[in-house]
Amino acid sequence: MQAKLIEPNRIELQQGMAQEVLDRVRGQKKTYYIETYGCQMNVRDSETIAGLLQRMGYLPAETKDTANVILFNTCCVRDHAEKRLLANIGALKERKDGEEELIIGICGCMMQQADVAKKVMRRFPFVNFVFGTNVLWRLPELMLSALNGERLILTEEEGFAICEGLPARRSNPFSAFVNITFGCDNFCSYCIVPYVRGRERSRELSEVVGEVRALAEQGITEVTLLGQNVNSYGKGMDVDFADLLKAANGVDGIRRIRYMSSHPKDLSPRLMAAIAENDKVCHHMHLPVQSGSTAILERMNRRYTREGYLKLVEDLRRTVPDIELTTDVIVGFPGETDRDFEDTLSLMDQVGYAAAFTFKYSPRKGTRAAEAADQIPEPVKKERLKRLNDLQARKTAENNQKYLGHRGEVLIEGFDRRQQTILFGKLDTFKMVYFPGDERLLGTYQTVTVTECARNSLLGRME
Ligand code: SAH
Ligand code: SF4
Ligand code: F3S
Repeated sequence: MQAKLIEPNRIELQQGMAQEVLDRVRGQKKTYYIETYGCQMNVRDSETIAGLLQRMGYLPAETKDTANVILFNTCCVRDHAEKRLLANIGALKERKDGEEELIIGICGCMMQQADVAKKVMRRFPFVNFVFGTNVLWRLPELMLSALNGERLILTEEEGFAICEGLPARRSNPFSAFVNITFGCDNFCSYCIVPYVRGRERSRELSEVVGEVRALAEQGITEVTLLGQNVNSYGKGMDVDFADLLKAANGVDGIRRIRYMSSHPKDLSPRLMAAIAENDKVCHHMHLPVQSGSTAILERMNRRYTREGYLKLVEDLRRTVPDIELTTDVIVGFPGETDRDFEDTLSLMDQVGYAAAFTFKYSPRKGTRAAEAADQIPEPVKKERLKRLNDLQARKTAENNQKYLGHRGEVLIEGFDRRQQTILFGKLDTFKMVYFPGDERLLGTYQTVTVTECARNSLLGRME
């Protein structure tokens, strides 16, 4: 869907309020801390929140304990995140009792569920405000109301319009996330995302490319284009994801283009060709399969079969021979039989993913699968998850072997936490390599040769 934009007069109003906050905190060295849960969308949203707070005069805090503003950016895709969050908010009560001026806000996907937002406000009377996923741009209003001693819930934003031009404080100096679509229309039967992120809408191609260009001008060389389903970018518009890859490929200064996630049902031959033809597009695809059983895929509303998925992988590998695949898998979806699970194992074995994110099915209130009568008992889920992880560990190690002696370029992103003389960087295929080097090389591209394959990582040396 082509997105509506937030009206300029509403943005101006917020800018006025941001100025008011700035006037109130100026010279006071106020700081903020954002705790982010969930996926890259939330990481990117937290960067926008940080950018807005800095515009209002707040500085990043060294630790949560010293921050004057604490924000939790929440996720609700699976159960455990919720419990952890509630415990973390509860733990702040004592501090707030002794420090009335502390501002506490909760946002993100969990808060987009109106009943949860209300529950949080009721259960934690010391929380200043709660806001949903699509009203980041109204943060000045929320901060101002908190400074005025009011409590506010902002979760409804009719139409889910896009707000362009918000500031961002990027968390990685070399590699940046760029939103291309928001929301999701797929309604996989287990998934809460379409309910908390709204309908799928795409940013204008010129806006995306403009952001990529601005990032390149700041010295960023790698971008990751973000969407719940990037392959369907441009739905209802006259451009598609292949066009976007081509346009981004033309931006000077950008050396690598990554993207995630891809939905198998929208992976067209045209898109495969675009990946092969545009030299900056990395040879890695995160292509969640979720299950290897056609019957389960059908109940998940994934709109592809086991055979269809395997055919896609074959076509993709023919078009882009060295492409690495990673995936997401759910075990213990309602009605999953031993036979269905065996199908998942055999698919994983056949495809040979470089890595897999594996999850136990977690019923989410309001989704179709949560209503199913044939839920799988926890011990079965647990056992299946273990078997799946054991298989993937073997496949990862096996896949790593092919890199022995491999020579390739990495973007150096950081150094080992334990040894500052060991750097790490990623190959084009998303494989991480560790090698000795000097921290002055951070952010540069270097050619490395892989000399050893540890269980989960590759070790190498620089040329
Ligand atoms: N839009 C992305 C994924 C978003 S959620 C995509 O489609 O690829 C990330 C992953 O969480 C999903 O791929 C799925 O494997 C997992 N997930 C989502 N809902 C879940 C649930 N209710 N229980 C367990 N895992 C879930
Ligand atoms: Fe959820 Fe499916 Fe949309 Fe991914 S594609 S966000 S799994 S509904
Ligand atoms: Fe979680 Fe929302 Fe992402 S539910 S996985 S943070 S889209």
